[in-house]
Amino acid sequence: MKHYNIAMDGPAGAGKSSLAKALAAKLGALYVDTGAIYRTVGLYVARQGGDCGKAEEVLPKLPDIHITLDHGPDGLQRMYLNGEDVTTAIRENAVSRYASQVSAIPEVRAFLLDMQRKLAAEHNVVMDGRDIGTVVLPEAEVKVFLTASVEQRALRRWKELCAKGESPDLATIQEEIAQRDYDDSHRAAAPLRQAEDAVLLDTSALNLEESLEALHAIVKERIGP
Ligand code: DC
Repeated sequence: MKHYNIAMDGPAGAGKSSLAKALAAKLGALYVDTGAIYRTVGLYVARQGGDCGKAEEVLPKLPDIHITLDHGPDGLQRMYLNGEDVTTAIRENAVSRYASQVSAIPEVRAFLLDMQRKLAAEHNVVMDGRDIGTVVLPEAEVKVFLTASVEQRALRRWKELCAKGESPDLATIQEEIAQRDYDDSHRAAAPLRQAEDAVLLDTSALNLEESLEALHAIVKERIGP
């Protein structure tokens, strides 16, 4: 089969990463989680005591940030920040906010663009993010915009955190998600929006298996079985 790229965009908690990972495994493609890359930048800036919301504090630090990633046999994407494995550290709740803040800075987006495009040029990828279909891979063979109601997304995240042994507050999570949706879709630089040629998939009423089936059907229609 010829080279292909699949772009999956959508708001936080819509199930992008679980679905993109499962789809990539099914197709034998490489799963690329671009949110993890923004998280790594946010983590570095915060660790250095910088305010992730201030471009003047973030930009001077960019040259010191060397990000690499690799994929284990299980398809898990491991992230390295200047050689340190930060795969777990970037999942902390505070880092979500740092990532959202640094991602609003155009120079940060430009800094990460080549890295994302190179991965897509070298591999068949299922790439998940916010601007993959609109900015990073406008020529992607398949574009899916994955969404779900804010209530469903908050509930899913809440369950995930509970499963990790945390005791999160559902209302707070819902507020955080709604705030992040607003910030990600109202920023000037590459805001979250559905590409004109993207297929909309709303997973509010679907479980993971049903969502994967629907996603796979969309993909098959475009690139074959
Ligand atoms: O998918 P995630 O929650 O790990 O992403 C973290 C933040 O990074 C999110 O608030 C928006 C930003 N992001 C982005 O702006 N562009 C991407 N392609 C991926 C993530």
